Amino acid sequence: MKKPKVMTVYGTRPEAIKVAPVLRQLAKSPNFESIAVSTGQHREMLDQVNQMFKIVPEFDLNIMRPAQSLNMIFSRTVSGIDGIISATAPDAILVQGDTTTAAAAAIAAFNSQVPVVHLEAGLRTGDITEPFPEEGNRKIVGQISKLHLAPTAASKENLISEGVCSEDIVISGNTVIDALFIAKNWKVRFTDERLEAVRRAGSKIVMVTTHRRENIQDMKNIGRAIARLAKDFSDVVFVLPAHLNPKVREKLLPWIVRFNNVLVTEPLPYNEFTQLMTRSTLILSDSGGVQEEAPSLGKPVLVLRKNTERPEAVLAGTVKLIGTNEDSIVREARRLLTDKEAYNTMANAVNPYGDGNAAIRCVRALGSMFGIDERMADYCPL
Ligand code: UD1
Ligand code: UDP
Repeated sequence: MKKPKVMTVYGTRPEAIKVAPVLRQLAKSPNFESIAVSTGQHREMLDQVNQMFKIVPEFDLNIMRPAQSLNMIFSRTVSGIDGIISATAPDAILVQGDTTTAAAAAIAAFNSQVPVVHLEAGLRTGDITEPFPEEGNRKIVGQISKLHLAPTAASKENLISEGVCSEDIVISGNTVIDALFIAKNWKVRFTDERLEAVRRAGSKIVMVTTHRRENIQDMKNIGRAIARLAKDFSDVVFVLPAHLNPKVREKLLPWIVRFNNVLVTEPLPYNEFTQLMTRSTLILSDSGGVQEEAPSLGKPVLVLRKNTERPEAVLAGTVKLIGTNEDSIVREARRLLTDKEAYNTMANAVNPYGDGNAAIRCVRALGSMFGIDERMADYCPL
């Protein structure tokens, strides 16, 4: 019998990290032919991850242009994926998460009557404006998918409340935890010598990442808050691996670059970034992936957003939503840097997002979709 051909489409850094364990598992499986397609929505930040996980996509649409609109990303992706569908005739297309790449590739698959498989399905804030455009993207993909690979029980519940049939949903755990387990085995030396010096000095580190579109007008608040904290805590090094979006850099960096204890770096390779998280005392971030990774490393995260589609670590107490108000950021970070009890209450290693077997569950679920394998038991946190 001909093996089903599964085409995995991804385009940004977090998608690459989260599909990497699935691509590895597909490559190991005797059941499938696997085709990896990069849209290249990101370039340098995507290539870093592909190199790290030794993934060479069969196709690369190379669509990234500086500061292009969401509609340009969308239309380039739809037409590029359309061509690859015609050339390769896949039996299923797997997309990850909520990016423009994911939504556009899913629409291209749907229009060509190729079944859509959604990895990291069912995350919702319930607010279509935040995160923008991600909440809309994942709802669109959720409407047209045949198989929903939901990371947690709560994400499955979200899908059921939108009318998705329970039998079409598998609770897989999040593949980001599989990626973290893989990264743990890699040797790390920081390529930025300034970070190596921080490591050698054993300094206390606060890590900051921010890039959300809806936060761009608030970058000034975030920058001013980091500046105040850097002034007050001269023994702490604030490390900021800066996203390559020029709008983020323009609005944020002028507030912080003049401080000796603020270290702005280029985007870090995944192994270095996870190492930096491990060595940090505290993390301030608006990233989705960081909210999932840091809890399993026992690192408190102050989330620079008003809401989150990842409530599990908030409920577990390791993650706190603080928004982007300057005073709130300073107050919350100061509390965790000075109040040991408050810090210890948050610094619990909890792992509501996965057990490292998410990718196997996903590939087995794909097999069951084609009637050639059986699903594994749903992921359930310990
Ligand atoms: C995208 C995703 C977001 C995800 C984020 C991860 C959408 C709508 N948003 O947002 O969900 O959290 O990726 O980082 O899909 N750039 C480079 N080189 C790179 C990457 C980006 O120069 O390797 C610059 C380009 O000027 C680009 C800009 O960053 O135009 C923004 O990139 P884009 O993919 O449009 O959106 P992100 O904000 O990165
Ligand atoms: N990450 C990385 N290098 C960096 C910053 C982040 O490898 O300099 C990783 C991080 O470990 C996480 C993912 O990128 O897995 C998160 O990406 P991002 O914050 O860009 O997107 P989001 O998760 O918010 O969609």
